Amino acid sequence: MPVTIKDVARESGVNTSTVSRALNNTYGVNDETRKHVMEVATRLNYRTNQVARGLVTGRLHTIGLVVSDIRNPFFAEVARGAEDAAHRAGHDLVLCNSDLKAEKQMGYFDSLLAKRVDGIVMNSVAALSHAQQDQLWAAGVPIVLLNRSSVYRRFSSVLGDNLQGGEIAGNYLIDLGHTKVGHITGPRAHGNLADRAKGFLKAFHDRGLPEPEVIYGEHTFAGGYESANRLLGPDRKITAVFAGNDVLAFGCIRTAIEKGIRVPDDLSIIGFDNVEISQITSPPLTTIDQPKYEIGKAAIEMLLNMMAQDGIRESEHRVIGVRLIERQSCRRVSESAGSNRETAKHLTAGPRSARLSRNGSTQIAGDLECNPPADAG
Ligand code: RIB
Repeated sequence: MPVTIKDVARESGVNTSTVSRALNNTYGVNDETRKHVMEVATRLNYRTNQVARGLVTGRLHTIGLVVSDIRNPFFAEVARGAEDAAHRAGHDLVLCNSDLKAEKQMGYFDSLLAKRVDGIVMNSVAALSHAQQDQLWAAGVPIVLLNRSSVYRRFSSVLGDNLQGGEIAGNYLIDLGHTKVGHITGPRAHGNLADRAKGFLKAFHDRGLPEPEVIYGEHTFAGGYESANRLLGPDRKITAVFAGNDVLAFGCIRTAIEKGIRVPDDLSIIGFDNVEISQITSPPLTTIDQPKYEIGKAAIEMLLNMMAQDGIRESEHRVIGVRLIERQSCRRVSESAGSNRETAKHLTAGPRSARLSRNGSTQIAGDLECNPPADAG
């Protein structure tokens, strides 16, 4: 039989309400009694019934994390940053996958509220109607979004600088001499991906170059494979692809392999996210790094802040800088398109080489560059 609060009260010689106040560290219990009750509770191995306690205090020390799909390694890294920050603050995390479906997301929202979570971090509100957003707002629970802030201004948000990242990717390919370029991305309604596309197209526009073709699909490995199949037809002219995230880039590499298109000899590919496995693909993927762990950690810290200021709903918006990670999946256009195989072999199979990225930082191709968390275990 589990030890109850009544057992602790009997053993301590005080009533249950004093035990409760002692264990919850609230008013009206002197230090001596509190210490005595704590000792008895520890000796009896008493565990608080979190649910019952939550009903009384209104707090269950639980946070909901709603992502679009945890199979995207981006979210695994975000979730890790979030979980570490929540754990440090004594909160548990409940993970939900919305699959970018509004009903599924709202269903999870309702069930997280029913579980009396203290706050929710959410990705993928892209598909929600205004009425649904109003519903989230009306619930009054602290919410931090991992989506672009401009659309959902009243909710707090933290995200990587998608616009800037898209522009960096565009200028990088242009600097390598690519002018016939394609972009594969996710659904049009996905705010973060839409901003990446916008930044990317802006780079071409600003430099007076033709607008790259954009293919919308699922932002998954399978989606990247399918979109690349559409883009890389038999009379393809393009020499480079910007994939809206790394898993799309992996799907694109798969298509290239099946079609006998050599990366980067015939086709340069750049991704977005810098997930950990992007360094072990063949060739290692050039990509735009988002500080994923930091994003997850910041989202929880912002949420805890909101929770601590009960009732205050001033929104906070953080946009975190991104940077180019230059590896071996892109190459200068003059060397592309059916060029020298020997040089290609040398570059892809050769020793790890230090390269200077556009932002001036040196990256070691093939090494771990995924912002390992300073405080992760
Ligand atoms: O929704 C998935 C994508 O959006 C991720 O790959 C990541 O880039 C995020 O911002």
